[in-house]
Amino acid sequence: MIKIGLLGLGTVGSGVYSILEKHSENLKSKIGTGLQIEKILVRDVSRQRDIDFDSGLLTDKAEDILDNPEIHLVVELIGGEEPAYQYILKALNNGKSVVTANKLLIAKYGQELMKLAAEKGVSLYFEASVAGGIPIIRPLRESFAANKIERIYGILNGTTNYILTKMTGEGQDLETALKEAQRLGYAESDPGSDISGADAAYKIAILSSLAYETVIDINDVHIEGIENIEPEDIEIARELGYLIKLLAISKFTADGVDIRVHPAFIPENHPLASVSDAYNAIYLHGDSVGDVMLYGQGAGRLPTASAVVADIIQAGKEIYYGSPDINGDIYKNVHKVMDISQVENSFYLRLQVKDKPGVLAKIAEVLGKNQVSLASVIQKHRQNPVVPIVLVTHQVKEENLQKSIAGFKNIGEIVAVNNIIRVEEL
Ligand SMILES: NC(=O)c1ccc[n+]([C@@H]2O[C@H](COP(=O)([O-])OP(=O)(O)OC[C@H]3O[C@@H](n4cnc5c(N)ncnc54)[C@H](OP(=O)(O)O)[C@@H]3O)[C@@H](O)[C@H]2O)c1
Repeated sequence: MIKIGLLGLGTVGSGVYSILEKHSENLKSKIGTGLQIEKILVRDVSRQRDIDFDSGLLTDKAEDILDNPEIHLVVELIGGEEPAYQYILKALNNGKSVVTANKLLIAKYGQELMKLAAEKGVSLYFEASVAGGIPIIRPLRESFAANKIERIYGILNGTTNYILTKMTGEGQDLETALKEAQRLGYAESDPGSDISGADAAYKIAILSSLAYETVIDINDVHIEGIENIEPEDIEIARELGYLIKLLAISKFTADGVDIRVHPAFIPENHPLASVSDAYNAIYLHGDSVGDVMLYGQGAGRLPTASAVVADIIQAGKEIYYGSPDINGDIYKNVHKVMDISQVENSFYLRLQVKDKPGVLAKIAEVLGKNQVSLASVIQKHRQNPVVPIVLVTHQVKEENLQKSIAGFKNIGEIVAVNNIIRVEEL
């Protein structure tokens, strides 16, 4: 019998409890022995909970689990940095395998925790930390092991994908779409880290670390959120044959790892363009397998619990058969991360200019000086006395584009640079 200590009985913890109860016989036959939840740590043992469970299992003392020699496997579903980090350290140090869904901890301390697990001869699994129910961690470590992964594009945040879908399909503004996402339970009451792109950045950092077997410092990931996307940008994107998505991008290049999260124009006929509402997807390219897309629910009680239970089965087998997951240093390479100023992209620029002759020539001169060439120029309907102008550049180094934007300050006819969005041809 494998004895489990559950840290947390919230959204995901209660889903894990339910699946372990519902599928206990099936899981037993998969592992070779049964799984038993021995104790559950929560903050408030007296709180009413909306699942049927044995309340005698609850404790508010972490040591009841972490120092309990009967418990083989600790499943961390508290979230956040502390005390979750200290609890995982203690569990590993006490010779217990750990399963976690905590993206922040894995992005920040993945290497240290994996090393500690290996030293202690136990396993650490984190399938649910990226893209909820979509299996991507084990595929990256095992199924795609015969490949050099060259690029990963992810739609890794359900809240922002839901908002952009509503802005695109129903012409809603960001605020209205966000309120609806919160009403439906897709967005947290504080959606800051979703909207800002930080949540997706942790996830792409984890995927890149595994794909390139290196440590990616989250502080090196260039992050922009969807705060500035306006209905006008979405409408113009559609006219040009694109959709706007919050993309998490990671490319292995000769100049380093190009890793970033930002809104991007993507071609409307690309498979990622069909990923709508709160769904997530990962589209990657390996040198042997070619293009692969994985699609599914990136969050939610049961989809996330499905990934956690998959890890529990794996860890349970290893405990039962006495063969922990010791597969070398998965962060063994050193690769630098490219500075965003050196990354090349094509860009969409939406400007407002005074309706005067010669203004386009002045803009073209500034762009030309900075080696920025234009793929298209669109003048939208006049809104006297200003005219909205849309420019789409060819591929250009980001620093040259930024120099051009700085140069625009000397053109008195430019009233505003409303938005700048990268165009990813994928
Ligand atoms: N929700 C999702 O869809 C989803 C998707 C992917 C990954 N994840 C990850 O899964 C993890 C859990 O998320 P969740 O949504 O299930 O969180 P949640 O609903 O807020 O549940 C957190 C649980 O941890 C307990 N807890 C919190 N702080 C504690 C502390 N200091 N000591 C003891 N217990 C504490 C809470 O106790 P009380 O019940 O007493 O308050 C609660 O049971 C996070 O790492 C999250 O990023 C979640």
